[in-house]
Amino acid sequence: MANLSTRFFGLELKNPLVIASSGLTNSLENIKIFAESGAGAVVLKSIFEEEVYFEYEEMMRKQGGSHHFHEHLDYFDYQIKDENVKDYIRFISDVKEAVDIPVVGSINCISSGDWVQFASKIEAAGADAIELNLFILPSDLNKSASEASEFYLSTVKAVLAKVNIPVSVKISSYFSNLGGMVKELAEAGVAGVTMFNRFYSPDVDLNSLSLKAANVLSSPSEYVMPLRWIGLLAGRVECQLAATTGIHDADTAIKMLLAGADAVQLASIFYHKGPAYAKELLAEMEKWMDEKGFASVEEMKGKLSFTNAKNPGWYERVQFMNYFGEYNG
Ligand SMILES: Cc1cc2nc3c(=O)[nH]c(=O)nc-3n(C[C@H](O)[C@H](O)[C@H](O)COP(=O)(O)O)c2cc1C
Repeated sequence: MANLSTRFFGLELKNPLVIASSGLTNSLENIKIFAESGAGAVVLKSIFEEEVYFEYEEMMRKQGGSHHFHEHLDYFDYQIKDENVKDYIRFISDVKEAVDIPVVGSINCISSGDWVQFASKIEAAGADAIELNLFILPSDLNKSASEASEFYLSTVKAVLAKVNIPVSVKISSYFSNLGGMVKELAEAGVAGVTMFNRFYSPDVDLNSLSLKAANVLSSPSEYVMPLRWIGLLAGRVECQLAATTGIHDADTAIKMLLAGADAVQLASIFYHKGPAYAKELLAEMEKWMDEKGFASVEEMKGKLSFTNAKNPGWYERVQFMNYFGEYNG
């Protein structure tokens, strides 16, 4: 039987299947099923810097923004933040008590600020690691690429200075120098980088001629972008790598490991198939490894990375020139 153990978040995991942060990991019941089904680790739903402020604004709106209320804004702001943090901390302790797999706290942030204190509270609550879900949509036309990368690096450094547990970062692909950014994050001291987060996206409703939300869940074809970048960066940056987005089955998880991922993070497929699907997926991975004669994840990891593949040019090929003839007819 193949040995599935690996390392991610700077932690020893019994297998590379990490349950990605989502509404599913906001529930103790689900997390128990994920753990019983053999998952290697679970990342809790992010605590959102933004969400804290939304609730605050919502409360202000309900109060009609009265003068009296304004006088107490700071107090309420503090109270609401404090309650959210307390709930999250309590949840971490409850999950830690209920399951024996690594539990990773997640913070979503769009600015460096007082939320950095959350990090030490998450550590104190017993989380095994922290994943920072960092993202700013680079839509400000007056902001330079270096200002954006400075935000990522300074935020990571601020958190690393606060805690002793491993810190990983979940990033998007929206970087002008993606490879260089991951290298710099690794040099700053993160234990791992998860690529790529998937976001709420806009779509157009042709009937009502208005905007609407695009699919919230990923489709299986989306795995190719993280696959390229895992493959390109594996073994060339000083941190562990996890793949996320579009991994819906054992085959795709295996592809990511062969490209060089240390772990895979899945969310959408569990919305379709339920948390117990983790067991089936792991069994299928194991079966494939046995059939192909891989004794361990370590043995197969990165076998087809840019550094190790016999034909690494596939990772860098981006234009379709050779295919024009085929698709003309
Ligand atoms: C409903 C939903 C909620 C999510 N919430 C979070 C979140 O709070 N923090 C985070 O880092 N990622 C969040 N994600 C992103 C997932 O963790 C995952 O990285 C992404 O969906 C890509 O993986 P998938 O293709 O397996 O869904 C969420 C995804 C979904 C579908």
